[in-house]
Amino acid sequence: MREIKIGLLGLGVVGSGVYRLLSENGDFMAQKTGSRLTIKKILVRDLGKPRPVSVPDGTLTTRAEEILEDPEIEIVCELMGGIEPAKSYILSALSAGKHVVTANKAVLAEFGPEVFQAAEAADRGLFFEAAVGGGVPIIKTLRESLSANRIQTITAIVNGTCNYILTRMQESGLSFKEALVEAQKLGFAEADPTLDISGMDSAHKLALLATLSYGSFVPAEKVYVEGIEGLEPLDLAFAKEFGFLTKLLAIAREKEGEVEVRVHPTLVPEGHMLSSVRLAYNAFLLKGDFVGEIMLYGLGAGAEPTASAVVADLLDAARLIISGAKPTSILYRETPLDIKPMPRIVSRYFFRFSAVDRPGVLSKISGILGKHGISIASVIQKGRQIGGSVPIVMLTHEAEESAVRKALSEIDKLDVVTAPTKLLRILED
Ligand SMILES: NC(=O)c1ccc[n+]([C@@H]2O[C@H](COP(=O)([O-])OP(=O)(O)OC[C@H]3O[C@@H](n4cnc5c(N)ncnc54)[C@H](OP(=O)(O)O)[C@@H]3O)[C@@H](O)[C@H]2O)c1
Repeated sequence: MREIKIGLLGLGVVGSGVYRLLSENGDFMAQKTGSRLTIKKILVRDLGKPRPVSVPDGTLTTRAEEILEDPEIEIVCELMGGIEPAKSYILSALSAGKHVVTANKAVLAEFGPEVFQAAEAADRGLFFEAAVGGGVPIIKTLRESLSANRIQTITAIVNGTCNYILTRMQESGLSFKEALVEAQKLGFAEADPTLDISGMDSAHKLALLATLSYGSFVPAEKVYVEGIEGLEPLDLAFAKEFGFLTKLLAIAREKEGEVEVRVHPTLVPEGHMLSSVRLAYNAFLLKGDFVGEIMLYGLGAGAEPTASAVVADLLDAARLIISGAKPTSILYRETPLDIKPMPRIVSRYFFRFSAVDRPGVLSKISGILGKHGISIASVIQKGRQIGGSVPIVMLTHEAEESAVRKALSEIDKLDVVTAPTKLLRILED
């Protein structure tokens, strides 16, 4: 049986899961694939730190070159996170002729072309299933299973932390802060949750999915991003009255040669497949021109689901080594994608106005909306006093974002309006 030696960079949450999976399922995988994956060395920062797995003496090192320069190691598995030194180690491993498996969405979303080209130049495989969706096989689905399709839309819940917070706000009326503290206590949110709650983590993942779907690098900064920090239980409650649940969605859609890439809180109709995705789960609803709709659902983080994806990549790398086959290219389009500017997107909207409780207010607001071509689909106006003002909540028919922005800036200047209007977009069918 062919033995394939691996160097692990990192033995944290995911690294320990990978170590355990390879130990527990090693025999079973060897029977299945005809090769045995063996971890030869593991890079860590602190040799003395207690670990959830026990590794043989001499396996841990703090010297990356013991992995990157070891000719016996054929696959480097980067599970450190962060940009540097992870990116340099990935590039060094490729140029030393090693295949690379990584879970690092930040490196790929920010430096994709450099890393993809390095893999191509070295003729080595670069695998990153765990970078998006943890244990959910979204990367392979896009790269392999749906490769004959034009991907028309990706509509996804890609951040378990945000989905957990929104579920708790929605179902138990917790404030954003209360739900965040609970998520942190239960290990669903990091001590510093900024990347998650700002939507940036979702933007990194969406950029990567759009890159794979459309074959041209989509930089993360091209993704329009709004996070969930500004959401109030009141907005979620009003949305529910209209029959919607609020989710942080990552949306990519191609239409007439342009691609929209955006991450923002979105109202999803109750009964829609994505509305039933609760707590820390992720889901990916894909629409291909021939396959139609496909949905993938599962845990997007955690040691075990993520290890499942990483080890599947290690097995794919092993198959490349055994067969000597050429790895498939990731980028295939020469020209950059046309990203549709946000002001030109068309959506239905939810507005919550805060206004003084006086006759004629509603007609002033609807007059400005009408002037900008925005038509109202339904209204809820309740006499609930909040800080001396009442909320007026409206749903619109389809409108262009630029018209909505202009109308709201006029409305927010009215003397009867007491706070900036809350805007949420509604998921289009
Ligand atoms: N956690 C998840 O559920 C999850 C899910 C999907 C993807 N990912 C991705 O997987 C990667 C790893 O995440 P994680 O949660 O496992 O991280 P983690 O628990 O923080 O572990 C990081 C590991 O890398 C080592 N390390 C970090 N910087 C190093 C350096 N400069 N030199 C040597 N060793 C270094 C650390 O060593 P010490 O142990 O000695 O400190 C630690 O073992 C990240 O890219 C993350 O985005 C994570």
